Amino acid sequence: MTKFFYLETFGCQMNVVDSEQIVDLLGRVGYVQVETPEQADLILLNTCSVRDKAERKVYGHLGRFKPLKEQRPDLIIGVGGCVAQQEGERLLDKLRFVDLVFGTHNIHRLPEMLAGVTGEKQRRFETEFLDAETRRLLFPERKADDAVTRFVTVMQGCDNFCSYCIVPHVRGREISRPSGDILAEIRDLAAGGVREVTLLGQNVNSYGLREAGEISFSQLLRAVHEIEGIERIRFTTSHPKDLSEELIACFGEMPKLVKHLHLPVQCGADPILAAMNRGYTRAQYLEKVARLKDVCPDIRLTSDLIVGFPGETEEDFGETLALVAQVEYADIYSFLYSPRSGTAAAELEENLDPKDKQARFDRLLALQQDISARIWQSDVGRVLPVLVEGVSRQGGGQLFGRTTWNRIVNFTGSPDLVGRIVPVRITASFKNSQAGELEADEVRAAS
Ligand code: SAH
Ligand code: SF4
Ligand code: F3S
Repeated sequence: MTKFFYLETFGCQMNVVDSEQIVDLLGRVGYVQVETPEQADLILLNTCSVRDKAERKVYGHLGRFKPLKEQRPDLIIGVGGCVAQQEGERLLDKLRFVDLVFGTHNIHRLPEMLAGVTGEKQRRFETEFLDAETRRLLFPERKADDAVTRFVTVMQGCDNFCSYCIVPHVRGREISRPSGDILAEIRDLAAGGVREVTLLGQNVNSYGLREAGEISFSQLLRAVHEIEGIERIRFTTSHPKDLSEELIACFGEMPKLVKHLHLPVQCGADPILAAMNRGYTRAQYLEKVARLKDVCPDIRLTSDLIVGFPGETEEDFGETLALVAQVEYADIYSFLYSPRSGTAAAELEENLDPKDKQARFDRLLALQQDISARIWQSDVGRVLPVLVEGVSRQGGGQLFGRTTWNRIVNFTGSPDLVGRIVPVRITASFKNSQAGELEADEVRAAS
């Protein structure tokens, strides 16, 4: 008999990729995905604990399922991802209606754990990290579907231990995937129609450094660049301290590499950067930004910033504002500092009350909104190459794709163009997307 599962995913791209694996594994043991929890025999949440808000959201959503379980005691409720990793068995103690808890290294165990829950009627948890022998299980090979652009995991975990960050605690030590496996997967994806890959890891710049005989991240990029059919390459996330001169040079030399780099700075003041254990100074960061702009003048940068880290003075915050104004990021993702238990910074006393923290956050946002609007508005009137990703759900003959700067562009065109890079004249710029018109003559000439 077919069984149905409902899956909700929180958090970062890592979790999105992990959820794809969950869907694949459950499909193999006869489960079919459904759109609402009410239709499901199995409900799974893939969770994030990076900030308090993210974690509370998970608990809020879990609470919604309790009445369903009361109505249908056979319903199985499982929790995976970073909250599951952190809480482990405690989650089973706290939430009596949860049956199954699996950590970030235990996704491959899901079918067996499920069999235990359904067969032996036992509540189960597994949160052990993989070891040297079994770590390849972290990187299951993924096949092409009809997507034009795909994420390819090149590493898992993080060794940086930024003092505020829970990720190294819940994802484990940094492990690089063998380059042979990565390249084989990308060749396969390219043969299946994928045109853009995003190489994914918590800190891709240190790819391979801890593995004897492995190539470096720049070498990996060069090898991906050689693969026929791949037209665009992105990667995320980069840690500024590991952004080598060799990698910076790639932006000037590799036509398939996009002119966009997400380079989280977190803060613009040296004392706070040191307390965050980021491993670079303001000057070192700005030097790398200057080098990037030297080798690739139209590169656009984006960043993550944390506001209100313990000890942040008005002067420190002023340095952050000045840095943001100087770098001119195309976009930033800013977060209120949120203490995470188990991290080094959780021991530090917070000096700001929530109101002042929020006021700083708002100032940063206002500054960035002006910069972003100016940058994205400057595209209007220009003809930009857009990789067409698909047909818009809204219909009306609309296609959508992205520019090299990762901005979504909506425009009218034939579905045959999906998978191709076409010239689009940008006609309007909105908060998160742009509108454009196909330069039809040029498309005909090129085909
Ligand atoms: N590995 C990536 C992403 C880490 S999590 C990186 O190093 O950039 C994504 C972002 O969440 C971080 O860049 C940071 O800005 C933010 N973040 C992490 N922990 C946080 C915390 N305790 N409080 C507020 N923001 C946090
Ligand atoms: Fe967290 Fe720092 Fe690692 Fe990023 S580099 S995941 S912020 S510890
Ligand atoms: Fe969240 Fe885990 Fe990603 S804590 S940000 S889902 S690595």
